[in-house]
Amino acid sequence: VKTDDRPIGLFDSGIGGLTVLRSLLAALPNESFVYLGDTARLPYGSKSSATIERYLLQNIAFLNKLNVKAIVVACNSASTVLVDGHLSGSFQVPVYNVIEPGAKAALAASVSKRIGVLGTKATVSANSYATCLLREKIPNTVVFQQACPLLVPLVEEGWVDDPLTNLVIHRYLSPLLSEKIDTLILGCTHYPALRGGIGRVAGSGITLIDSAEAIASAIIADIASSTLGASSGRSPLRPALRLMTTDVSSSFTEISARLMHPHVIPALEAVDIA
Ligand code: DGL
Repeated sequence: VKTDDRPIGLFDSGIGGLTVLRSLLAALPNESFVYLGDTARLPYGSKSSATIERYLLQNIAFLNKLNVKAIVVACNSASTVLVDGHLSGSFQVPVYNVIEPGAKAALAASVSKRIGVLGTKATVSANSYATCLLREKIPNTVVFQQACPLLVPLVEEGWVDDPLTNLVIHRYLSPLLSEKIDTLILGCTHYPALRGGIGRVAGSGITLIDSAEAIASAIIADIASSTLGASSGRSPLRPALRLMTTDVSSSFTEISARLMHPHVIPALEAVDIA
C-alpha cells in the first residue's frame, strides 16, 4: 500500500483550531501534524474578506514550505473565502475548509430544518453557511445566523466556564431560540471550547454541530479512501506534533494545554510567516 508520511498542516487565527487538531489526533494516531496559530493577526473574524484571503494565502504558502501533504483551514472565518470556489485549483495540496462538512452534518441532524448558525462577523456576513445549507434544496430549510464577536476573545482569555461568558452566550442565543431552531452550528472553531455553556443555554432539544468534529470526520474518510494516509508505526525521528504561533503570549501555552487535554503539547515555536 502506498503511504504518505508528510505531516498534515492546520491553521487558525489562534487557539480555536486546536479543537480540530484534537479531533484529528484522536482519530489518526499515525499522522504527524503542524499547527499554525496566527496570533499576531487575531482576530480574523472582524476583518474584511480581502484581508482574510491575503492571510489565508500566506498561511497556506507557509505550511507548504514545511512540506505538508494536506492543509486543514481550522478557522471558519478563513474558510469563507474557499466556499465560492474562486480559489479552487490554485493549491498544490488538498485544502479542506471547515464550513462544508459542518453544513452537511447540520442538514443530516436537523428534523425541522430550522438551523441556527453562530459565527464571527466575517463568517456571518460572508453567508457561507447559508449558501451551503440552502444549495442542497432540501424543502423547508431556513437558516438563522448570529454573529458573536465577543466569544473569541473570551475563549482566548480562557474564560470558558465563567458566569460572564454564560451571560454573553445567553444574549447571543436568545434571538435564535425564539426562531425555534432544532440544530445549532458552532460556526467558529473557538466555540467548541464553550460547548458546555452553549449547550446549557440552548437546552436538550437543540442538536449542537461542532464544525471541528464535522471536518475531522470528512478528513478521516478521505484518508481512509486514498493514499494520503501515513504508514503505521511512527518513526521516533518524525515529530508527531509541532505547534507554531506568530506571536508569543504567556496565556497561549496554558490555554492550549487545557484545550488539548489529554494530549500532551510540545513547546510552542514562534514563527514569522511574512
Ligand atoms: N476560530 C476562527 C473561526 O473559526 C475565528 C477566530 C477569529 O475571529 O480570529 O472563525
